[in-house]
Amino acid sequence: MDIWHVRGGNRLFGSCRVQGSKNATLPILAASLVLPARSRLRNVPQLKDVAAAKEILTHLGCRLKDEADGVLLVDSTAPCGAEVPRALMGEMRSSVIFMGALLARCGEAKLSLPGGCQLGKRPIDLHLAALRAMGAEIREEGGDLDCRTDGLHGADITLRFPSVGATENVMLAACAAKGATRIRGAAREPEIVSLQEYLRSLGAHVAGAGSDTITICGVEPRRETDCTLPGDRIVAATLACACAAAGGRILLSGVDPAHFSTVLHFLNEAGCDIIQFNDVVEIASSGALRAPGRIVTEPYPGFPTDAQPLLMAALLRAEGTTLITETIFENRYRQVSELRRLGADIRLSGPEAAVRGVERLRGASLTASDLRGGAAMIVAALGAEGETAVFDAGHIRRGYEHLDDRLCALGADLWIEHK
Ligand code: EPZ
Repeated sequence: MDIWHVRGGNRLFGSCRVQGSKNATLPILAASLVLPARSRLRNVPQLKDVAAAKEILTHLGCRLKDEADGVLLVDSTAPCGAEVPRALMGEMRSSVIFMGALLARCGEAKLSLPGGCQLGKRPIDLHLAALRAMGAEIREEGGDLDCRTDGLHGADITLRFPSVGATENVMLAACAAKGATRIRGAAREPEIVSLQEYLRSLGAHVAGAGSDTITICGVEPRRETDCTLPGDRIVAATLACACAAAGGRILLSGVDPAHFSTVLHFLNEAGCDIIQFNDVVEIASSGALRAPGRIVTEPYPGFPTDAQPLLMAALLRAEGTTLITETIFENRYRQVSELRRLGADIRLSGPEAAVRGVERLRGASLTASDLRGGAAMIVAALGAEGETAVFDAGHIRRGYEHLDDRLCALGADLWIEHK
């Protein structure tokens, strides 16, 4: 158990290079299995979820080598196993992407339903329907998935919801399918574009990522690739919200500001000064914010659900009332009961949250129950008087690389006690 101790009141100043994107890295690690190749991946973040994905790759027969400065070599040229142990599947949600990768590489896959943050039911019906339409037979029994195919074939897939994971799974399976695959209603997140770039570097013919229609038709395999992961847009949003809550002026580099422009928009509406140039963005805040208007979470390019807890935490003392509607996950307000312990005034009604700004927040003991909710508690604690202790059973480390060091370097009074 990590106990994050935060003494609020310090403003944040300085510059910070944002870590590589967790949600770009995880599907690309799964994709490294699709074709036997040697991949040099740069800007790979050191995270629990990335470590879990690397363990799965090693278990399946890949050779991995960590080099300096976030460079990871993945060699998937050796014969590849097809079974992912339940213990390794349970670590995170994105392990479900190995289903498409293994069907493409081995024609079979034995894995169990994924783990990950408890944000709601998180079914995988869209994944299963799409892969079955491409010729996969998938038996589900007691949480185990037994998948096999006599050969994947291209298909016209329409996703009723632009699921990030389902889009990624189909892209990977389609690399081995006979004929063209078209995904309509595809997710448009930047991580989908990064996956397309990686697959293209391996010789796959993929087009349309970033739009709602993606086509994959065939592969002219290459043996080597060298790929740099983008900066993590949600970590950037987290640091920006931390500055908004604490006050100060920070410079974020290594991430495309366009990838979290909706978060920057609401911070600007709330009274922060935002200056962007190339892949650098400066956020300045007096710490005295105002409610920025209604926030509705949507699939990209809309406001990201992952940033909802973080922006909520930054606005707990904003003048006025902020209305938030969470449309992606049915259980993504788990941070609310903990934020109320700081003195926050938040009323919930189904997917709606009304955050009425209060004069002050006072430090308290909080318990993190998911990745972004835990980070939101740190953000709120930076703007609270006195000391806050966030008890975290490792959620934050799943997605944030050295968040404590980065915030301390910006002036936060924060330390972690390991119990
Ligand atoms: C990805 O999860 C991200 N994770 C999540 O980030 C992010 O919140 C989410 O996309 C939405 O942007 C990774 O990329 C590793 P979805 P994913 O499939 O793929 C429903 C974080 O904090 N759905 O787009 O699991 C689902 O229940 C994490 O980094 C179905 O109904 O998200 C949810 O309500 C948290 N059936 C909605 O779609 C399906 O088959 C969005 O899910 C699949 C999804």
